[in-house]
Amino acid sequence: MLMNLPKKVKVIEVGPRDGLQNEKLILSTEDKLQYIKLLGQTGLSTIEITSFVSPKAIPQMGDASELFKGADKLLSESINKPCLVPNLKGYETALEVGVKEIALFSATSDSFTQKNINCSVEESFSRMTELANMAKRDGVQIRGYVSTAFGCPYEGKISVDKLLKVVERFFKLGVYEVSIGDTIGVATPGQVNEILKSLDHEFDKDKLAMHFHDTRGMATTNVLVSLENGFYIFDSSSGGLGGCPYAKGASGNVATEDLIYLFNSLGIEHGVDLNSLIEASKFILEKLQKETTSKFLKATLSSEK
Ligand code: HMG
Ligand code: MG
Repeated sequence: MLMNLPKKVKVIEVGPRDGLQNEKLILSTEDKLQYIKLLGQTGLSTIEITSFVSPKAIPQMGDASELFKGADKLLSESINKPCLVPNLKGYETALEVGVKEIALFSATSDSFTQKNINCSVEESFSRMTELANMAKRDGVQIRGYVSTAFGCPYEGKISVDKLLKVVERFFKLGVYEVSIGDTIGVATPGQVNEILKSLDHEFDKDKLAMHFHDTRGMATTNVLVSLENGFYIFDSSSGGLGGCPYAKGASGNVATEDLIYLFNSLGIEHGVDLNSLIEASKFILEKLQKETTSKFLKATLSSEK
């Protein structure tokens, strides 16, 4: 029997950012805004909007300023709208358009970090220290992302010790929460259990989010293991979109629909209306001309036919 599960979870929707950053089709800002509007009607309390990254690196996020301005008008003030920021240029642009929460990102692996943001992990922390100081000065909230926490596409397994050190460095920057990323979807339930026990020993569960990609179909199982360990903050992507252009073979995030189905089955409160969420996913999947990877959504859509 499942014991001591959290009564309530927090879901961070990353569809408009992680979900769209790796898609071949670059959608119009108008379509992205309609997607964000639909997500805003689901009850989700946090929607990651975009990334203020180099359009040469990620052309899919090339409309960050216009998109954020539009989303800020569309969404209720009570919805958090974090955006990824990799450097000073990104920070200044984000601030200009009124971003109130940034997500800083690094990894446990130097090889991945080099490919992703063209610097080492060490260099990324000196960049992020400067950005975090500016954010604190400007009253901007900061979230942190640690990629390759469960494995790296270039270096394989990374030690738990290394992960703990990177997480600690993020907290020293003043982030309110660190998201632990299974960038390439290699995490397995036993490994997740072990790593979460170490994280729990060192840090506060209220400040740690889990970010599972579902490349090998283990994401919802990993979420269940996280719940059993008392972790209750999860990043997910509507329809199961997602992936990182610098992590070859990595597929989508755990689908928000699959998470909500799991939470419902366990009587865990989440605040998301599943039918409205399905409408948002249907809209964006049609624009992307793509089938969902969410098992729950696939089953629902085929029963509608
Ligand atoms: P770089 O080439 O070292 O940067 O890239 P640079 O400073 O030399 O600039 C190169 C050009 O980009 C210049 O333009 C800059 O102006 C421009 P040029 O002079 O050649 O015309 N540029 C920018 N333009 C707009 N906004 C900016 C910006 N910065 C530079 N902010 C850089 C370094 C970090 C910029 C680049 O590598 C980059 O943008 N990387 C982003 C990678 C990314 O977005 N990856 C995906 C997100 S992370 C992820 O998905 C993992 C996560 O989901 C968790 C998980 O699953 O593990 C979070
Ligand atoms: Mg990701």
